[in-house]
Amino acid sequence: MADSTRTATLTIDGKSFALPIYSPTAGPDVVDITKLYAQAGVFTHDPGFTSTSSCESAITFIDGDKGELLHRGYPIDQLAEKSHYLEVCYLLLYGELPTAAELEHFETTITRHTMIHEQMHNFFRGFRRDAHPMATMVGVVGAMSAFYHDSTDITDERQREIASHRLIAKMPTIAAMAYKYSIGQPFVYPRNDLDYASNFLRMCFAVPAEEYVVDPVLSRAMDRIFTLHADHEQNASTSTVRLASSSGANPFACIAAGIACLWGPAHGGANQACLEMLKEIGTVDRIPEYIARAKDKNDPFRLMGFGHRVYKNFDPRAKVMKQSADEVLDLLGVENNPLLQVAKELERIALQDDYFAEKKLFPNVDFYSGIILEAMGFPTSMFTPIFAVSRTVGWISQWKEQLADPAMKIGRPRQLYMGATLRDYVEIEDR
Ligand code: CMC
Repeated sequence: MADSTRTATLTIDGKSFALPIYSPTAGPDVVDITKLYAQAGVFTHDPGFTSTSSCESAITFIDGDKGELLHRGYPIDQLAEKSHYLEVCYLLLYGELPTAAELEHFETTITRHTMIHEQMHNFFRGFRRDAHPMATMVGVVGAMSAFYHDSTDITDERQREIASHRLIAKMPTIAAMAYKYSIGQPFVYPRNDLDYASNFLRMCFAVPAEEYVVDPVLSRAMDRIFTLHADHEQNASTSTVRLASSSGANPFACIAAGIACLWGPAHGGANQACLEMLKEIGTVDRIPEYIARAKDKNDPFRLMGFGHRVYKNFDPRAKVMKQSADEVLDLLGVENNPLLQVAKELERIALQDDYFAEKKLFPNVDFYSGIILEAMGFPTSMFTPIFAVSRTVGWISQWKEQLADPAMKIGRPRQLYMGATLRDYVEIEDR
């Protein structure tokens, strides 16, 4: 627990209250208001939690002004360049980079958990073929609690660890199955001789009728997408996982809640929304019309893939993703794809526009990830499921940290009530 050496004074109607101030290892100081209601009888009001810290955490840190993202202290660009997804998973879960032996053991463990219970296949078949893969994933991941009873006791540390490994290992299998089901192709079982990213690509794109060989450039790009999305502080879906978990819910239910939250277009759904926007724009000559709409206060349209709650500088993940996009497009020889031309021109125009500069709206990670995934052959409906696969380790690491925190209690925000005050029920004939 952080130490408090200073206090802030809040004065209400002439009465003063001392509030402890904590100094984090990085980031702004935090004023502790947990005793405020008991002492002063008032709540604080912060819709969207723009100024509120909800927990103590040691996993991820973002400096939005500098455009810096650290995982356990390590900058994301170094991890994207020198590490790989499963090593980053280990780092997030256990706090330190693994030794060679620890990594080998971890990779073997994850690989051995990639298959899902055979009876879960029936679950997929219950969905309509045109179900969005995110809808399928919310259902199937929630249903894992009905299949893996031996890892739902959250008071047992070993069961918590097994649940973590199962979720990281099975999520690519579930996402790939959701995709295969939606296009009417047979499910492809995982292969333990492949690395995490190659195995996922194979489960998505292989068919039993012919051999599928994973291109190492695509596998590396996939691994980078996973790595860049692995964790991101207390974002909406992570906070959803923590809130669900605060009631003592089992890990599979908590992660299903996180997937549901991630689906929204302001969060993980932005990569799909971004590609759909690029398709709607269609040709380079129509970009100014859409830029004008994004700037118009009376038009709800926003440039998808631009802007971020925390980053007020270039999203560091977007920088790496842009480089990856160039590599993939080069390999696949799709530079002349009209969609990608629209994307590149939109980025150029928006970065020069005063509106976007003043509001510090830069392309975010979703702008480029959508382009890469499109070039790889994924339909837009798979973009957010791939984000969910990547973020599972972040959710589960935060969940693990929360359960080990002695300060954990059920999340229960208060409200600024502006509704009717006490009144008597009116009989229907008198209304
Ligand atoms: N296009 C046009 N204007 C925008 C945009 C945009 N994409 N984003 C923000 N603005 C404007 C907004 O209208 C507001 O203007 P004003 O101050 O004049 O009212 C100002 O910029 C600040 O916006 P905000 O909505 O108060 O900022 P926020 O922190 O609440 O929203 C956001 C952050 C990501 C929801 C928002 O930028 C957005 O909707 N972006 C598009 C969706 C998107 O790409 N989301 C992915 C985020 S990255 C992936 C992840 O981490 O989940």
